[in-house]
Amino acid sequence: MAADIPDMEAERTRRRLRAAIAFLGVLAAVLVATTAWLVIQRAVPGRGAQAPVVSIGGPFELTTHEGARLSDRDLAGAPYAVFFGFTHCPEVCPTTLWEMSQALGELGEEGSRLRVLFVTVDPERDTPSALATYLQSFDPRIVGLTGSEAEIAAMATAYRAYWRRVPTEGGDYTMDHTASVYLMDSQGRFVGTIAYEEEARTRLAKLVLLLS
Ligand code: NI
Repeated sequence: MAADIPDMEAERTRRRLRAAIAFLGVLAAVLVATTAWLVIQRAVPGRGAQAPVVSIGGPFELTTHEGARLSDRDLAGAPYAVFFGFTHCPEVCPTTLWEMSQALGELGEEGSRLRVLFVTVDPERDTPSALATYLQSFDPRIVGLTGSEAEIAAMATAYRAYWRRVPTEGGDYTMDHTASVYLMDSQGRFVGTIAYEEEARTRLAKLVLLLS
């Protein structure tokens, strides 16, 4: 019987060793999986430590005030500014379009590289021709965009813009909407905004920076 004791001892040691090897195997697998996950997080654009928490912008395809189709792919290589509004807007939209026209004028020839997009949130009234008529009062480089409710909703949602139809007296309606101008770089990445009625020199400085 005494001879069995070392054997049992050896069996217990072997079992412990097997358990230890199994544990190390699981540990190694977890380490490999964690490393792979971290590598993927860094490799995927728009993710990882340096990416913004909220992504703004994305693919879109709408109809211009001249009746042509325009998508984000057509804008590749040039910075652009996006503003959501509607032609029946009493104040915010005409003010912003006037201010953007002023800025484009000050930027001169350099401003021609900047695409300024006025996206309607009121496609029911803002047809391409309605937009064309309305935009005659502003810098001719500003592009009006309209489309189906779904196309506009998709773009506004991608830009995390707010818009809402508000009934008014007599069965008419107006639109509430985000008043910021979104600034996108030449690769379609969101870089910041111009606030409503921001100081002219700040607005211009932001556009100069966007074009640099
Ligand atoms: Ni407006």
